[in-house]
Amino acid sequence: MSISFREEIKNLQPYKPGKPIEDVKREYGLDKVIKLASNENPLGCSPKVRDAIINTLDELAIYPDGNSTDLKEILASKLGVDVSEVLPSSGSDEMIDMIAKAYINKDDEIIMADITFPRYIQTTEMMGGTPVIVPLKEFTFDLNGILSKITNKTKLIWICNPNNPTGTMITEKEFVDFLDRVPSNILVISDEAYREYVTRDDYPHNTIGLLKKYSNLLVMRTFSKAYGLAGIRVAYTIGNKNIIENINKVRGPFNVNILAQAAAIAAIEDIEFLQRSYDINLEGKNYLYDEFDKLGFYYPPSETNHIFVNVGKNGQDVFVEMQKRGVIIRPMGGDFIRVSIGTMEENKIFIEKLKEVLG
Ligand SMILES: Cc1ncc(COP(=O)(O)O)c(C=O)c1O
Repeated sequence: MSISFREEIKNLQPYKPGKPIEDVKREYGLDKVIKLASNENPLGCSPKVRDAIINTLDELAIYPDGNSTDLKEILASKLGVDVSEVLPSSGSDEMIDMIAKAYINKDDEIIMADITFPRYIQTTEMMGGTPVIVPLKEFTFDLNGILSKITNKTKLIWICNPNNPTGTMITEKEFVDFLDRVPSNILVISDEAYREYVTRDDYPHNTIGLLKKYSNLLVMRTFSKAYGLAGIRVAYTIGNKNIIENINKVRGPFNVNILAQAAAIAAIEDIEFLQRSYDINLEGKNYLYDEFDKLGFYYPPSETNHIFVNVGKNGQDVFVEMQKRGVIIRPMGGDFIRVSIGTMEENKIFIEKLKEVLG
């Protein structure tokens, strides 16, 4: 007799990450494979983070500070908020999970875009909530469409800004106008995983400044992208202290490991590394735009470290053919693929192989 599991997880699929380099090497007998599939930082991470990790290695036998006190204090002081308004997590993945556990009741309606980061829908379904999907409009969040879907069952709205996978953003004015129209009993989460790459001035760079006025806003940020720490799992969320307190109740006792805490503290201080990440990303983005323009490909302008591009041929087929040539990208629906911006060398290899695949 099999053990019964929660009905809510019956149709859930495990998260599909970008294909690991080692798998592709093995599968196709390749020595060199580049991965432009998970929006990772091609520069690695700050050398200061390496030092901080090495200096923490002697402490592995002891549990980390479950409260992430030092990290919290540094974040609070840098961001000009109170420590009670900050909550570190093991990646924003864990935060998305914790928000769902703390807030989503069965049949609550959770509004999100299509297409956007898939963990929003998966965690909604996990909790028995009802996902309310609003299609993107010209590859960007349709905020009026989202507002029109609000009902008395709406609990939470996911805004991914800039959006993964389309790379598009909503402006500060659009966001504030939107917040003005969302009832204050609905949680709005601004997932800012790619904020450090944004080039435009009209992006809401200071969502923390909006928290005083909008007590239903949560701002979620990560060290996985521009800080280059995807492998160690650390992120943080800022918001009203009552909301933070509720999320903190469902947190695992030692959710951010000892190396991750040390790494994040060191990473925050290395502004130069962050600037280099931004610069190399912009240079790579302009190079890829030029190449795509020459090939006549459509792409929405990206404010992130990835580009969502129509390559005029089935994305899944292109994904397979690119893999055979040692380049991992992400297939999207139809003729779209998503490519992460790599080092210039990686970008050039990507273009060379893409031209080969497309004949
Ligand atoms: C929009 C968005 N949110 C959250 C995450 C999860 O990031 P983390 O590594 O902090 O868990 C990602 C990762 O790709 C993302 O693209």
